[in-house]
Amino acid sequence: MIFRKATESDAKRCLEIYDAISDWEAANGKQCCWEKGFYPTMETVEAALSLGELYVLEDEKAGKTGQIAACGIINHSQPEFYKLFDWAFEAALSEVLVLHTFGVDPAMQKKGYGSAFMSFYEKMAYDTGCKTLRLDTVTSNQKSQAMYKKLGFKTLGQWEGDPNEVGWSLTFVALEKVLLPK
Ligand SMILES: CC(C)(COP(=O)(O)OP(=O)(O)OC[C@H]1O[C@@H](n2cnc3c(N)ncnc32)[C@H](O)[C@@H]1OP(=O)(O)O)[C@@H](O)C(=O)NCCC(=O)NCCS
Repeated sequence: MIFRKATESDAKRCLEIYDAISDWEAANGKQCCWEKGFYPTMETVEAALSLGELYVLEDEKAGKTGQIAACGIINHSQPEFYKLFDWAFEAALSEVLVLHTFGVDPAMQKKGYGSAFMSFYEKMAYDTGCKTLRLDTVTSNQKSQAMYKKLGFKTLGQWEGDPNEVGWSLTFVALEKVLLPK
């Protein structure tokens, strides 16, 4: 499997993954609560690309050569509401690696791609001297919370709001994984 920074030519595939997740949820019930055309959109993809913060996981054995299974945005930007939580320790911004807008193509879920992406994200944090991973998800998102807990994340608390300014409020849960020195 290859984990790499996305390029302009991956933009279409990343939006395809995000839209497929929104479509899956429209048909099967809300989990992460994304809405096609509202969030995430091509603007979300392009903004992350332009900052060099969009990452993809490719599986060369997944059928088509180099099929992208998952994508997500990784940076040091903590949403404003993270200030409300009692994190394990007070870290400098550069010591915290944050994962946003992460998803696996619904047709490729439950095959270990989500966990693989998370382990590359964790390695990236170690390799760049970060001390902790922080992220959030919607409280209704049982799949992602099960995965994060299995991977050693601890739940901090909840917050209700509209961080992506899409026009509706959701309840978010914040999670963290403090990295042990190697
Ligand atoms: C959450 C998500 C990233 C998991 O990706 P994945 O490739 O299916 O994950 P994995 O195959 O590595 O599974 C890891 C763990 O996730 C949990 N999980 C995954 N799918 C699940 C499901 N349908 N029901 C319950 N738990 C599930 C399980 O704990 C699983 O471990 P297990 O296989 O030992 O039971 C994927 O479901 C997804 O993209 N969901 C939509 C977008 C999203 O919720 N993004 C996350 C935050 S916004």
